[in-house]
Amino acid sequence: MTKAILGVIGGSGVYDLPGLEDVRELDLTSPWGTPSAKPKQGRIGATTIVFLPRHGAGHRLSPSDIDYHANIDVLKRAGVTDLVSLSACGSYREELPPGTFVLADQFIDRTFRRQPTFFGPGCVAHVAFSDPVAPNLVARLARAAAAESVPHVVGGSYVCMEGPQFSTRAESTTYKAMGASIVGMTNMPEAKLAREAEISYATVGMVTDYDAWRPHEAGVDVADVIAVMRDNGDKARRLVARLAADFPAEHEPCPVGSDRALDFAIITAPEH
Ligand code: ADE
Repeated sequence: MTKAILGVIGGSGVYDLPGLEDVRELDLTSPWGTPSAKPKQGRIGATTIVFLPRHGAGHRLSPSDIDYHANIDVLKRAGVTDLVSLSACGSYREELPPGTFVLADQFIDRTFRRQPTFFGPGCVAHVAFSDPVAPNLVARLARAAAAESVPHVVGGSYVCMEGPQFSTRAESTTYKAMGASIVGMTNMPEAKLAREAEISYATVGMVTDYDAWRPHEAGVDVADVIAVMRDNGDKARRLVARLAADFPAEHEPCPVGSDRALDFAIITAPEH
């Protein structure tokens, strides 16, 4: 049996988890680089949680400067089996207003200056990624959101842009036409690296704004985004507390194989 350890990456507006008990800072380093912060391990009820604020203490790291490799590596070293990514995002649908939590099930990667893999050159691996999130973890998040009366929808495509500027109107209408439901700047390569690390991953897209696709409306208003972000942060903490309270002691095998992604993935011949 593998003990379930729940990882939580806190995005914009979520820099701590006040409900954590018996908290200690993990003194983990990574050969990949410098994680955004020292992960904090604690528990909620019987569930062990490892928390990492993605943008670091005081929000010092911009999306392109986050060391996603080091973050996923230290979470793996901490024993994380299941990872919830809390991520502020913009919305491409009238029916997903600010304050909605979108449990995305697909990603479109539009980043262009981030290394997306732990592998190569010299060791090449191709992991399956058609189903990038763990459906069992999404189902648990949906139940927790319902129990906490957090407005949420299950499913939707998250387009990850490079940033740090928000989209132009032309970019915004393009991403919407591509079929995206939400837009953010941080889930890539995070989700890809979690898959390569064989960690079950799910993202909670916390809508702060409508991005810039609505023709007769103002574009993104940063002051509004920050106000909604605070409110979303409180809901996210309640969501995590509820998720943790009902979390299984043993890691549930991932129905789409997140936790065994490397079984046949490495293509490079072993040296002889
Ligand atoms: N994060 C929050 N709102 C966003 C938006 N409109 N675009 C990209 N990232 C965001």
